[in-house]
Amino acid sequence: MATVANNTMDRIVALCRRRGFIFQSSEIYGGINGFWDYGPLGVELKRNIKEAWWHDMVHARDDMVGLDCTIIMHPHVWKVSGHYDLFSDKMVDCKATKNRYRADQLCVVKNRTDSGTNRMYAFVESDDESRARAEKKLAKHEKTKPPLPDEQYHVKPLLEIPGGEFHRVVGPDADEPGTLTEPRDFNLMFETYTGAVRDEDNKAFLRPETAQGIFVNFKNVCDSTRIKLPFGIAQMGKSFRNEITPRNFIFRSREFEQMEIEFFCHPDESNRWYEYWRDRRLQWYVDLGLASDRLRLREHGKEELSHYSCGTSDIEYAYPFLAEGDFGELEGVAHRGDFDLRSHMEGKLASQDGKLVLDVDANGKPRYKGSGKDLTYFDTERKERFVPHVVEPSAGADRATLAFICEAYTVDESRPSPELMKFHPRIAPIKAAVFPLVAKDGLPDIAEPIYRALRARWPVQYDAKQSIGKRYARMDEAGTPYCFTVDGQTKEDGTVTVRDRDTGRQERIDKSRCAEYLAEGIDR
Ligand code: GAP
Repeated sequence: MATVANNTMDRIVALCRRRGFIFQSSEIYGGINGFWDYGPLGVELKRNIKEAWWHDMVHARDDMVGLDCTIIMHPHVWKVSGHYDLFSDKMVDCKATKNRYRADQLCVVKNRTDSGTNRMYAFVESDDESRARAEKKLAKHEKTKPPLPDEQYHVKPLLEIPGGEFHRVVGPDADEPGTLTEPRDFNLMFETYTGAVRDEDNKAFLRPETAQGIFVNFKNVCDSTRIKLPFGIAQMGKSFRNEITPRNFIFRSREFEQMEIEFFCHPDESNRWYEYWRDRRLQWYVDLGLASDRLRLREHGKEELSHYSCGTSDIEYAYPFLAEGDFGELEGVAHRGDFDLRSHMEGKLASQDGKLVLDVDANGKPRYKGSGKDLTYFDTERKERFVPHVVEPSAGADRATLAFICEAYTVDESRPSPELMKFHPRIAPIKAAVFPLVAKDGLPDIAEPIYRALRARWPVQYDAKQSIGKRYARMDEAGTPYCFTVDGQTKEDGTVTVRDRDTGRQERIDKSRCAEYLAEGIDR
């Protein structure tokens, strides 16, 4: 992690904890890795983001319906979808330190003129400190001094080191070589059991994505509504992945929320819908305040695509925990062809010579049978029956929350309290605050009714304590866009001041206009 970026991230994490956005789960017992709780401000922020998504993607459209499926589904769903066999990361364990690492995130630094006996020092690729430690240990061992000259030393991904040479590798947090196990598959699904008997027959899984609930309900939605293709089904809710190395605050956690759409269309129209959703989803983040120079669309190269896919794009954000110039995935938009519906009809599919075929065992039997239900669609206008193609914009509510927090975090040294959160008013946890300038002279009697009228429509706070400067600063840190202050002049002419969080500028408006002013600000 780059040091400057790291400092910013540390300050953001500290503010989130201090002001009640995000806490470590079970903190009083030392926390639990990969789980986070949202505090009073955080829960409002995340709800606002989810509500904005639901409003803009479902309510504001004629071609979308919603769904809310269970977290535990029939275990066969995950066998047919491929998650049971394929949803895994390669991991290595360190026998000395008991630490576990994702193999694809480790590199080694080694001597170029390696005689086959030299030590190699492993480090976590994205962690500058881990790399510096590895280089220091290598330099000490080779009796040279860091920085290591490029012509003599070089870096290689751990996965390119043959297994037979692992006895020469020193783990990222170990001192002696040979303590890392060879990479092995680790399925990311959390297991549980339904009913009283804990055996294979009763084994179930916590869903690792919300998408499968949509596919298995495709027919139910078609049969119970009058919606016609092209249309989408949206769902948001918790997903669970037993990530080997949860990291970077709420970016990669083990329990998180997704906001997913499966958009079903005729195969001939799927490319057009893919392009539409890629651009529409990017614009959604821009409209809610993510700056375009920290946001980008990255089209996957042909070699990264599943063979059935005509395209996948990641919407990426330059999170401050990443090195300068690096971007991290915020949302994926994938063209999934007819893969999912066909799998749930016919059985688990596999690719062979560029084609999707039934995945069979050595005896030619399907490895995992499908439902056998007819998941085709009859288009009455085209007079054609087909398996719809699917475009999937799949967003993470926590990654979106983190991006909006990072984007909002601003340091303005000219202010008495320099940290403020410039949230778009639509997602700001508190929409406004109402202050009497002093808690006497009849000012609270004027301020309280204004507060009560606003509170009936929005989350608004009232504060009569401390100096006005401190009250503004508290609201700036919470990201509250407007503060209405009742002062001596209010008694004379009925006006209050409105202070704008981002500019600090104040203007006077009639106290009867507070609600109208706030409504305009939120809808801007
Ligand atoms: N149905 C497709 C799917 O689940 P994905 O790329 O694995 O695709 C979609 O996940 C989104 O879910 C990601 O872009 C990210 O925003 C979020 N996400 C995935 N794993 C996550 C994790 N461990 N912690 C937080 N968010 C995660």
